Amino acid sequence: MCGIVGVLGRHEAAPILVEALKKLEYRGYDSAGIATVDEGRLDRRRAVGKLVNLQDLLVHEPLAGKSGIGHTRWATHGAPSVRNAHPHQTRRVAVVHNGIIENFRELRAELAAHGIGHETDTDTETVALLTQSHLDQGQSPREAAENTLARLEGAYALCFLFEGEDDLLIAARKGSPLAIGHGEGENFVGSDAIALAPMTDKITYLEEGDWAIVTRTSVEIRDRDGHQVHREMREIQIDMARVDKGGHKHYMAKEIAEQPSVLTNALGFYIKDGRIELPGAGIDFTKIDRLTMVACGTAFYACLTAKYWFEQIARLPVDVDVASEFRYREPPITPGTAALFVSQSGETADTLAALRYCAGKADRILSVVNVPESSIARESDLALPILAGREIGVASTKAFTCQLIVLALLAVKAAQDRGEMDAEGVARALEQLTALPGLLNQALALGDRAAEVSRKLAEARDILFLGRGAMYPLAHEGALKLKEISYIHAEAYASGELKHGPIALVDKHVPVIVMAPRDALFEKTVSNMQEVMARGGKVLLITDAKGADEAGDGVWDTILMPEVADFVAPILYAVPAQLLAYHTAVAKGTDVDQPRNLAKSVTVE
Ligand code: F6R
Repeated sequence: MCGIVGVLGRHEAAPILVEALKKLEYRGYDSAGIATVDEGRLDRRRAVGKLVNLQDLLVHEPLAGKSGIGHTRWATHGAPSVRNAHPHQTRRVAVVHNGIIENFRELRAELAAHGIGHETDTDTETVALLTQSHLDQGQSPREAAENTLARLEGAYALCFLFEGEDDLLIAARKGSPLAIGHGEGENFVGSDAIALAPMTDKITYLEEGDWAIVTRTSVEIRDRDGHQVHREMREIQIDMARVDKGGHKHYMAKEIAEQPSVLTNALGFYIKDGRIELPGAGIDFTKIDRLTMVACGTAFYACLTAKYWFEQIARLPVDVDVASEFRYREPPITPGTAALFVSQSGETADTLAALRYCAGKADRILSVVNVPESSIARESDLALPILAGREIGVASTKAFTCQLIVLALLAVKAAQDRGEMDAEGVARALEQLTALPGLLNQALALGDRAAEVSRKLAEARDILFLGRGAMYPLAHEGALKLKEISYIHAEAYASGELKHGPIALVDKHVPVIVMAPRDALFEKTVSNMQEVMARGGKVLLITDAKGADEAGDGVWDTILMPEVADFVAPILYAVPAQLLAYHTAVAKGTDVDQPRNLAKSVTVE
């Protein structure tokens, strides 16, 4: 999603802006631009595609000035083009924006009635034109921005830069995150701490409805009612921004490989002396009789997996919903319900809105997040960190397995609190969880084997994934991962559901990936597999040695996994799903880390 940066510095702004925008590349974008004020004169440069195109442009057409704003755009209104790229600029103001201005058509019509026309397809240009119209009426930049903000509906993070003002930025947040970075005689604005990290580690997050008037020596923050407010300044860990590929060809490959170590961190954080310890006041599951879990995408599949755990081992009823549906369905939240939100970024607009819907209705608001300073973490009663470290690849990998680990630990804690698991059971479950990093290392050694199979998968047009029990959500995650980065159409079905319709899709051109450790449900899965093979389907079986033995002949290919306890099998089997998606994408030559049309942090609904 769009990234914003603003600089009131002591040095030339353009290189600083581009460096900060590089840090925001991980969010996904399709064009980029910067604007600066030099001796009072406002000017901008914009380019479609990767940041390197903007850098090239700046070599030929440099921009001077120590104040500026920058933007990476993920198109919402209007195709990716130079015309639609930010900053949007009029004679006296330039604006960068993340979010969606929902009433832009109405504002556009109003401006048109005053003879003010648009040149782009974007909602953001309306913000610049409205501000300009206020400036033309004799308002100061601050008044013009304030009066513009008062007219905007929807979600936004905005940063304004004005002609003739080389010591002023105005920043505003409603729905999309934005932070102020504090320096010595210089100040900054950024979408997140990562963007600001090259400049400063002192950060103030704006809260909902806040807007800030920033100069090199002052930061004045006002709330939605215009009152001046104090917002806490925090020091963020600068190493969060120190991310590289660590010798791997892609961030995704590095992040897949990191899983044993990040899972070890997470286990170490939550397991102390053989006991599960949650941060802060924790949660007492004897006081909870229902769990509502809400998330999007990969995080949603982590929730679906966890539903099996909470229900089977803790006998706790669980509802799971995708956030975009949950928030508008207005589901009743009964007393005794804990609401749990899972999000890597902690900024996903729909998940955050779902959390706000539950606040005040649910007994407790819990979250499982990777970014502890995120909005979702800050608005929860209890935020459980997954400790995956910065995830740059747009396709989530290590965050997924770390989410699963934390959810599995929570399920064990719930089982223990509710008297569904005795001390011996808890010890066994923790042993199974702590064995995972070693098992994941063994699964990672299957990289070459996965690459070999992936070369065949890369030729397919459609691929089906099957799973039973807790492997069913994982089949969904495998299909999502594959379609995201290889652009091959992939769908997942519960193994037993295939014959109720989807089996009509099966023929000799359709690989069917069956994720099936040799567990209690294995025989049933084998029967479903036979149904596929009887129709010429090409089965790729991912199982252990016992499973391969029992499955018999006829499968197209097999990936042999280490044996694993049923409880933690979905966490281990995430690895071959990730490896297959990764190597298929590499075989197809797609942009693995920044797949088309996708964004890392989805801050619009
Ligand atoms: C898929 C993926 C997305 C995210 C989803 C939610 O690989 O990364 O489906 O899982 O956009 O994002 P977070 O977890 O940041 O709320």
